[in-house]
Amino acid sequence: MGVPVHVGEQFANIWSHAPQRTIIITDAQVHAHWGHLFGERPCIILPAGEEQKSLAVVEQMVNTLLELGADRGSFLLGVGGGVVCDLTGFVASVFMRGIPFAFAPSTLLAQVDASIGGKNGVNTGPFKNMIGVFRQPEFILNDPDFLQTLPESEISNGLAECIKHACIRSRDYFGWIGAQMGPIRERRADVLEFLILESVRIKCAIVEADPLERDQRRLLNYGHTFGHVLEKRHGWPHGVAVSAGIRLVNRMALDRGLLTTEEEQRINGLLLSAGLPEFEDLQHYSELLLLVRSDKKKEGDHMAFVLLQSIGNAVIERIALHD
Ligand SMILES: NC(=O)c1ccc[n+]([C@@H]2O[C@H](COP(=O)([O-])OP(=O)(O)OC[C@H]3O[C@@H](n4cnc5c(N)ncnc54)[C@H](O)[C@@H]3O)[C@@H](O)[C@H]2O)c1
Repeated sequence: MGVPVHVGEQFANIWSHAPQRTIIITDAQVHAHWGHLFGERPCIILPAGEEQKSLAVVEQMVNTLLELGADRGSFLLGVGGGVVCDLTGFVASVFMRGIPFAFAPSTLLAQVDASIGGKNGVNTGPFKNMIGVFRQPEFILNDPDFLQTLPESEISNGLAECIKHACIRSRDYFGWIGAQMGPIRERRADVLEFLILESVRIKCAIVEADPLERDQRRLLNYGHTFGHVLEKRHGWPHGVAVSAGIRLVNRMALDRGLLTTEEEQRINGLLLSAGLPEFEDLQHYSELLLLVRSDKKKEGDHMAFVLLQSIGNAVIERIALHD
C-alpha cells in the first residue's frame, strides 16, 4: 500500500496524524508565515534556500536533534518546500540509523512533486541530489492554504511539474489545467485542491509501479534532462528550467516524427499561460547534448529521453550522445 497523502486537509489537523514526540523542521520564511500554527513543538528553523541541502547542514541538524533530546522514538515533520522536505527525509533516514518522518509541504512544487516518491537527498559541490536515499514518509499532508502566501513565481514553478504530469499521463488533466489556468493563478481553493490531487495521483501511480526508478519512473524525467543542464548553467529556477527542457525535448520528438507541431504549440501555449517564459533565444537541443553527457542518469554513450507521442502519451527512448 502507498503512503497516505491527505490532500485538502488543514495543517491544524496535523496532530491527529503526527505522534506526540514530533520535532518540526522548517525554514525561516515558512516559519514567518505559518509558525503560529506549530504550537509548542520543538522546531529546527533553517535559513531558506537551496544552499542548505548540504552534508554540513545535515551534521548541524543531527547535533541540534541531539541537543533537543531526540532519540529512536522521535518523529520528524518537515514543513516547507522541497529543500525542507529533502533535508527532513535525509536526516530522518540517517539519524540513529533511521527514525520515522512525514511532510507538510508548503510550496506547490513540493506538494505535487518533491514530497512524493521517497527520494531524499542533498547536494555536493555543483552536483544536485548526489547523496541520497530512497525512504518513504509515514504520511503527507497537503494543505492548499499554504499556497496563499507563496510568491507568484513559485506557483509558476510548481505548475511546470503539473503540466509535466499532464503531458506524460493525462490528456484530460492537460485540458483541465488549460481551462482553469485563470482560477489556478488566482489561487481559488477548490481548483488548487483538484490540481494537487490529480498531480499526486499521477506521480503516486508511476512511483508505486517502479519505486527504485528502474523503468517507468523515468517518465517523470520528461523535460528534466535538458532542464537540469540549463538550471546548472544559467541558475534558472527549477520550474523555469523544466519548462525550457520541455520545449527542447518536444523539438526532439517533433524531429523524430513523434509529436505534431499542433500538439507542440498547445504545450508551449500552456507553459506560457502558467507564467513560464517564452525563451526566444533558446539553444537548439543538439547543442545541449554534449552537456547532458555529464548527467548522472547517463548510461554509457546513450541517454534515456522521455519523448511525447501525443499529449498524455510518453515513451522512453535511448538516444546516442555523439562526440
Ligand atoms: N525529492 C524529490 O523527489 C524532489 C523532486 C523535485 C524537487 N526536489 C527538490 O526540491 C527543491 C525545490 O523545492 P521548492 O521549489 O519547493 O523550493 P524551496 O524549498 O527552496 O522553496 C522555495 C521558496 O519558497 C519559500 N516558501 C516555501 N513555502 C512557502 C509558503 N507557503 N509561503 C511563502 N514562502 C514559502 C521558501 O522559504 C523558499 O524561499 C530542490 O532542492 C529540488 O532538488 C526534490
